[in-house]
Amino acid sequence: MSPAGLFLSFEGGEGSGKSVQARALADWLRSNGREVVLTREPGGTLFGERVREVLLHAKDVSLAPAAQALLFSAARAQLVAEVIRPALAAGAVVVADRFFDSTLAYQGYGYGADLAGLMAITRFATADLRPRRTFLLDVPVDVGSARRAARRSGANRWDRFESDGRQFHDRLRAGYLELAAADTARFVLVPGERALEVIAAEIQASVAELLVPSRS
Ligand code: TMP
Repeated sequence: MSPAGLFLSFEGGEGSGKSVQARALADWLRSNGREVVLTREPGGTLFGERVREVLLHAKDVSLAPAAQALLFSAARAQLVAEVIRPALAAGAVVVADRFFDSTLAYQGYGYGADLAGLMAITRFATADLRPRRTFLLDVPVDVGSARRAARRSGANRWDRFESDGRQFHDRLRAGYLELAAADTARFVLVPGERALEVIAAEIQASVAELLVPSRS
């Protein structure tokens, strides 16, 4: 049985602007009277936030791609069970800042973990829950790197994924574009170099279509 609410996700590489757009969409939906739950991955639960510390910031902990994928998936399983499914069952709109496509793109395309294996653990972790629509914020790797550098100028925490090289980010971007091309019914490709308000309006229009009550 499909859940009563609406599940939307945002994806993209570093500096793509997806988190800003996820928040903007949540604000817009709330201002239109919708119940909204905004989540981020890894995180969104106490367990997920702890796993996030190890995955992103524990420089002394080495993690093979498969180990990364299992940890991200464990955090996702908890998020789905504790937050996303109950919210959807209550009729809310869930806006996820990253979901399983991040694992396919980062651990699969980026680090070379087996895609079929990643899809299998993803299905297990989510019990086959998929976003109704996924917005892929796409920017050239150089643009994302420059934004990331500007954002991090005040921060001094090591980040496992941001510290990876140019080739990794090239593979990541190409992987995301491949995922989007393979599932055009779910993905919306959003060029991310335009003004924030222009991008937000485009996303709102796409979501508005889904909020119109069906006449059938
Ligand atoms: P973010 O909150 O800035 O998006 O950071 C999350 C980081 O974790 C980002 O570098 C992408 C990475 N990540 C993965 O590698 N695989 C995953 O499945 C998820 C959810 C995130």
